[in-house]
Amino acid sequence: MKIARLPLARLTTLGVGGEAEVWTVETLADLVQATQAPYRVLGNGSNLLVSDAGVPERVIRLSGEFAEWNPDLSGWVGAGALVPSLLQASARLGLSGLEGLHGVPAQVGGAVKMNAGTRFGEMADALEVVELFHDGRLHHFGPAELGFRYRHSGLPEGSIVTRVKLKLTPSSEEAVRARIALVDAARKGQPKKKSAGCAFKNPPGDSAGRLIDVKGLKGTTVGKAMISLEHGNFLVNLGGATAAEMYALIRKVQSVLPLEVEWEIWGEVTPAEAEVSR
Ligand code: FAD
Ligand code: EPU
Repeated sequence: MKIARLPLARLTTLGVGGEAEVWTVETLADLVQATQAPYRVLGNGSNLLVSDAGVPERVIRLSGEFAEWNPDLSGWVGAGALVPSLLQASARLGLSGLEGLHGVPAQVGGAVKMNAGTRFGEMADALEVVELFHDGRLHHFGPAELGFRYRHSGLPEGSIVTRVKLKLTPSSEEAVRARIALVDAARKGQPKKKSAGCAFKNPPGDSAGRLIDVKGLKGTTVGKAMISLEHGNFLVNLGGATAAEMYALIRKVQSVLPLEVEWEIWGEVTPAEAEVSR
């Protein structure tokens, strides 16, 4: 196990956030020790807006036995494994089930927690068993027991996904790659700049990005934080943005549209008072 104070800006895709004590756990014994004080679990940091002041809780990262998986994707897959690596393996093996997650830069644990996906499929569809560390021991659940819906899971409060068994269907490499290409085409309009994916959940039957676009908010900037010109639901870090600047954009959008935030906000974040410009 490694314990170090690290800037969370370096461990998140948005590249924003102050320091925390990061506990990198490799075994169940490490996990038991790390959870003896208030903690948060970090996956690949791709859905997080972290306070500029960091967070006071321990931040647990899964490594070692929690990031292992068999090259043929049989048996247990560690929750610290990266979804894009598993997807590539599934394509080579001609196993179908993860294609809807193409372009989602998550760890398995983060993808389970958020039920990440696209309209082509979501994480819950590809799960056979989920192993959770909760109340000091391991528990096993089927996906039907975990309250999955659009970008939501009902994992018990404070529980940590440690491993999963995937539910994949034999297909062919060509068929899996063809489905990945479909998802890739649907993602063409998304920006490459630093982000945490879509900032808001879609309201039923509509796209938050489209609604933000129609309101003429694309290009709105606070300091180094901007509503992407390419896709209205991507709030991007142009380089050196603060959490306060990113949050000011969220507030700006919410002042005109009743949208629910999809990003998870860690720590105290108050909006920057810097001028909003377009
Ligand atoms: P983190 O961001 O690190 O954490 C998110 C939440 O999961 C936190 O509550 C954290 O505590 C919890 N968590 C992490 N690991 C565990 C664990 N082992 N056990 C319990 N809880 C855990 N999302 C989509 O759904 N669809 C998309 O198409 C999509 N596209 C994206 C594109 C880009 C370029 C980016 C940057 C993000 C995108 N996202 C998308 C958002 C993001 O990738 C997902 O929300 C993803 O599920 C987050 O996973 P993570 O491992 O990065 O989790
Ligand atoms: N649109 C606009 N202007 C914009 C953005 C979108 O007019 O600025 C229009 C598009 O032209 C399209 C419609 O809105 O007609 C839907 O857009 P898109 O296909 O981009 O899908 P989305 O609903 O905006 C969702 C997910 C993404 C996922 C894509 C691809 C949410 C909040 N967003 O976006 O997920 O990658 O579909 O399937 O569910 C995420 O959750 O972080 C995320 C990136």
